[in-house]
Amino acid sequence: MFLYEHCAVNQIVVQGMTNSSQSLFDRGMKVLVEGVSSASRGPATFGGAPRYMSHGAGARLYDVDGREYIDWMMAFGALPLGHAHPKVVETIAREAARGTHFATALEVEVEVAEMLVALLPHVEKVRFANTGTEAAMAAFRLARGHTGRRKIIKFEGHYHGWWDAVLVNTNPLPPTMLGHPNDPIRIPDSSGIPEEAWKDTIVVRWNDFDALERAMALHGRDAACVVTEGVMSNMGVIPPKPGYLNRMQELCRQHGALFYLDETVTGFRLAAGGCAELYGLSPDIVTYGKALGGGLPMAMIGGRAEVMAGLEWGKVLHFGTHNAGRLALHVTKVMLETMLADDQAGFAKIKDLGLKMAEAIRGVARASNRHGIVVQGVNSMFQVFFTDRPEIGDFRDFCAHVDRAKFRDFALRLMDKGVYMNPSATLHSLSSLAHTEADIAATAAAMAEVLEEMP
Ligand SMILES: Cc1ncc(COP(=O)(O)O)c(C=O)c1O
Repeated sequence: MFLYEHCAVNQIVVQGMTNSSQSLFDRGMKVLVEGVSSASRGPATFGGAPRYMSHGAGARLYDVDGREYIDWMMAFGALPLGHAHPKVVETIAREAARGTHFATALEVEVEVAEMLVALLPHVEKVRFANTGTEAAMAAFRLARGHTGRRKIIKFEGHYHGWWDAVLVNTNPLPPTMLGHPNDPIRIPDSSGIPEEAWKDTIVVRWNDFDALERAMALHGRDAACVVTEGVMSNMGVIPPKPGYLNRMQELCRQHGALFYLDETVTGFRLAAGGCAELYGLSPDIVTYGKALGGGLPMAMIGGRAEVMAGLEWGKVLHFGTHNAGRLALHVTKVMLETMLADDQAGFAKIKDLGLKMAEAIRGVARASNRHGIVVQGVNSMFQVFFTDRPEIGDFRDFCAHVDRAKFRDFALRLMDKGVYMNPSATLHSLSSLAHTEADIAATAAAMAEVLEEMP
């Protein structure tokens, strides 16, 4: 009997039915495109089978093979409280028992909007959506509706979701394809995007005052909005030059274009008030996602009442069956309450941990006697660049001087040692409330070993 059962188990193993990452990948490849649901989670990033995760707790992720990881990716930044925070788990269980979704007006919707308006001085009105992409789509339409203008000014290397009009120059390219910095060649990042979708999208070099002045002189009066990430977060982590975003805001005001700050990554992450607070900005439109939902899909468009009024009665249309999902709103409320408690102690803590982790990596790099490792970060976000430059200042630096293959090797080796960072150099790592100084020390130790091993 025992033998039989034992055999049966082995047979299952042989048939590939155990939950190893490799077997799930083999099964997944037959039924899912690339075995996953986003190209960034599959072989394009991992060079083979990704690690299939089974559960998370605090700062830890566990894969189906039983391995444990210190998670520095935190669901692309969606988890400021870490995994399975007890308050989040309790809230979801309590609220799910009362009904998952009504698609009606909700008390919690008003409560969360009140919290956001009280917290963000530049936001007088809020509209909830589900993802950063959706919120951005509505924001661009609103900017065009409000101004009656068509052009959108965006920056090289900035990502605002996968919508046609702005999916231009968001991926690293060979430097020879970038064109003149005064007039970047516009390159859509996907097939299937008609030219008319991005014909009114102007692409400008970021962190370059002259390029900005020139672009605004040429296009400012026809621009519905200038959209920017506050910290460039989709080419590692690249902070803005001092005064750069303030100048952008000023030029927008001069030319009557809306200043749209995309806080999808930086919102509820770099400070309670995001980059607007960090750099003293008062954008006309903002969008948030990721951290806002504390792990559930939640995004928002916010801005001055006069601008947001464009959405009234669907003058500028933004619909959505799942807008303002009640489970996600309840978790958003918990995330905000937890991070803001004790004079915003949660934000202070993730900042402290992020800065310490970045400094620890610099220490490891110095001790390794390896040249060409630069760590850039802002508060709770950081990224390691393998580069011949002392710093990476914009998209063009990234394209020409960041060794992405080396970073992938670094990240994959770290995974073998129980540290999870996304293997794409274009992304970044993040601290959460669940991380500890012991996690920083363990991560630094694993990095030291990896740098020793790497060719
Ligand atoms: C700056 C920025 N805006 C918008 C988005 C799109 O958000 P989502 O993935 O939730 O659609 C992202 C996603 O990474 C982002 O980094």
